[in-house]
Parts: sequence; structure tokens; C-alpha cells
Amino acid sequence: MDYLIKKISALETYTVRHPVLREGKPIESCLFDGDTLNTTFHLGLFDEGNLVGVCSFLKSKHALLKEESQYQLRGMAILKEKQHLGLGKLILSHGENLLKQQNTQIIWCNAREKAVGFYKKTGYQIIGLPFDIKNIGQHFIMYKAL
Ligand SMILES: CC(C)(COP(=O)(O)OP(=O)(O)OC[C@H]1O[C@@H](n2cnc3c(N)ncnc32)[C@H](O)[C@@H]1OP(=O)(O)O)[C@@H](O)C(=O)NCCC(=O)NCCS
Repeated sequence: MDYLIKKISALETYTVRHPVLREGKPIESCLFDGDTLNTTFHLGLFDEGNLVGVCSFLKSKHALLKEESQYQLRGMAILKEKQHLGLGKLILSHGENLLKQQNTQIIWCNAREKAVGFYKKTGYQIIGLPFDIKNIGQHFIMYKAL
């Protein structure tokens, strides 16, 4: 299969964020805080020209992590019909490599309970206690040294 991964705008992520992460919610719910900061970037994975996966990287420090240079992974999503084909791993590792090149030490995320297995497989570990995000459910803080 021929996949292309490239930087896209925050707005472009909505076609995947909406059905996968905000199903049934208004399109405005796809806007995340910090989406348009100049330190934030968004990646899109294209399958034969169609956007099928997205993830975003926001410069943000977590209080439980001591490293100076940290990024938060946000909006990790692969269209349902394209999940479990290795695409999540592919786009995430592309983003991690870009962060590594700019000397980011740690990447972390608020992982939905259902996605913890995916993050563990890609080298992330849990820190701290689980917490609830209103309307979405239980989350775990997970991180990985780059
Ligand atoms: C979570 C998600 C991004 C993973 O992407 P994906 O393309 O389906 O995952 P991949 O095929 O790249 O899987 C990589 C590895 O993780 C494993 N994996 C994937 N999803 C998993 C899950 N939910 N639980 C346990 N393991 C999982 C795969 O089996 C694979 O293992 P392998 O390397 O041994 O073969 C995708 O399923 C998704 O968009 N889910 C809905 C939205 C979501 O929950 N996003 C995360 C919000 S925090």
C-alpha cells in the first residue's frame, strides 16, 4: 500500500476527528485548545489521496513529567474502516521522529481507556492516576521518552 504522511492544517483534521473522536457532536467540538499555535503541528495520513488518519502535536508540559522539552499528542484518530492496519503506529512514529529531530525529550497524551493497549504497543507507559473527561470517559496519562 502507498501511504503519504504530511503536515496539514487544524481544519483539515476535522474530517477524521469528527467521525472518530466527536461522533454525533457539533463540528465545533473538533476544535482543540492550542490547535492554531505556531508551535502546534498536525499530520495527515493519505491513502490513495484520501485523508484516513490524523494526529496533532501541541507544545505542552505535564506537571508529572520533569523533562524541559515536552509535547502532547492530541486527536489521534484513524477512520474506522482503516483501523488495525498499522496506520496509527505509522503516523504516530512519523510525528515522534519529527519531534526527536527538534530535540523534544518527552511525548505524552491523555489516553482513552480503549486506546491504552495501542499506546502500550507503541512504547508508552502510564503515569499517575486515571481521571475522567466529561462526556468522553476515563483517561490515563501516558508518556514516552524520545
Ligand atoms: C487507537 C487508534 C488510533 C489506533 O490506530 P490503528 O491504526 O487502529 O492501530 P495500529 O493498527 O497501528 O496498531 C498498532 C499496534 O497496536 C495494537 N492496537 C491497536 N489498537 C489497540 C487497542 N485498542 N488495544 C490494544 N492494542 C491495540 C495493534 O494490534 C498493533 O499491534 P502490533 O504492532 O503488535 O500488530 C485507532 O484505533 C483509533 O482511531 N481509535 C479510535 C479513536 C481513539 O481511541 N483514539 C485515541 C484517543 S486517546
